[in-house]
Amino acid sequence: PLVSMKEMLNKALEGKYAVGQFNINNLEWTQAILGAAEQEKSPVILGVSEGAARHMGGFKTVVMMVQGLLEDMKITVPVAIHLDHGSSFDKCKEAIDAGFTSVMIDASHHPIEENIETTKKVVEYAHSKNASVEAEVGTVGGQEDDVIAEGVIYADPKECEDLVKQTGVDCFAPALGSVHGEYKGEPNLGFKEMGEVRDLTQIPLVLHGGTGIPTKDIQQAISLGTSKINVNTENQIAFTKAVREVLNNDSKVYDPRKYIVPGRDAIKEVVIGKIREFGSAGQA
Ligand code: G3H
Ligand code: ZN
Repeated sequence: PLVSMKEMLNKALEGKYAVGQFNINNLEWTQAILGAAEQEKSPVILGVSEGAARHMGGFKTVVMMVQGLLEDMKITVPVAIHLDHGSSFDKCKEAIDAGFTSVMIDASHHPIEENIETTKKVVEYAHSKNASVEAEVGTVGGQEDDVIAEGVIYADPKECEDLVKQTGVDCFAPALGSVHGEYKGEPNLGFKEMGEVRDLTQIPLVLHGGTGIPTKDIQQAISLGTSKINVNTENQIAFTKAVREVLNNDSKVYDPRKYIVPGRDAIKEVVIGKIREFGSAGQA
C-alpha cells in the first residue's frame, strides 16, 4: 500500500536497519524497484526529483503510474512516493496535492533561520495531509539534476537540533561528507558528528549519496541512527551498461523492449542487493 515514510522509518530506527530510497525515471525503473521490494518483503521509498517528475510528465502522472503498478503487480509491501530535494514550499505542496505521500524540502543552501522557517511551513501543510517530511542541513556534494553543490559543507549539530525541535520534521539529512554521483576516492563520512546529531535529535537520519559507499560505512551509519539511504546513480550506471551491451552486440535490434528489459533487470538486481545490505529485507 501507499504510505508515508513516518512509520517505516521509525520502525527502521528502532530495528537498526535502513529503508532504501531509490530514484525513479520512468515506468521500467518503477517496475524494477517495486518488484525488488516485493520479492524481498521490504518497505521501499520511490524517490522522484523535480527533474524526473518533469521528465515523466508531472507529479500526477507519477502518482497514477505508481498506483497502477501497485495494483497490477499486486504489491503488498509499504511504498512511499517521495519528492526528492524539493526546491520550495510550492513544489512540495504541488507534489502532495497530486498524491505524493512524502516530500523532502531542501532549503539547506539558505541560512539556517530561513531553512527552519521554510521547513516548518512544509511540515504544517504536509502533516495536515498525512504526508511525511524530510529536511536537510549542510551541503551534500556533487550534482543531482538541478541540485548542484559547490563543495561539501558538514552539518552543524547544534543547527540540526534547532531545526528538528522547531519544525517537527519526520526525518532529516545531516550532510556529513556524502556526495551525489560517484566518489573521488573513499568517502569520508563524519561519523562522530553523526552520533552527536543522533543523540541531539533522536529522529531517523537520512544518508544521501548512497552510490559508492562501502558496506562497512553503511553499517556504521545505520548503527548511528541512519534509517534511510538514498541511491540513484548506481541504478543509472547499471541500466545504461546493460542497455549499451545489447545495442553494442546487436546492430539490428529495434524493438525497444529487447534492450530496455535487460536494463530493468539490472536495476532490480542492484536494488535487491541494497535492500539486503541495508537490512530491510523481511521487514515489510
Ligand atoms: O537524493 C538522492 C541521492 O542522494 C542519490 O545519490 O546518486 O549518489 O546515489 P547517488
Ligand atoms: Zn540527495
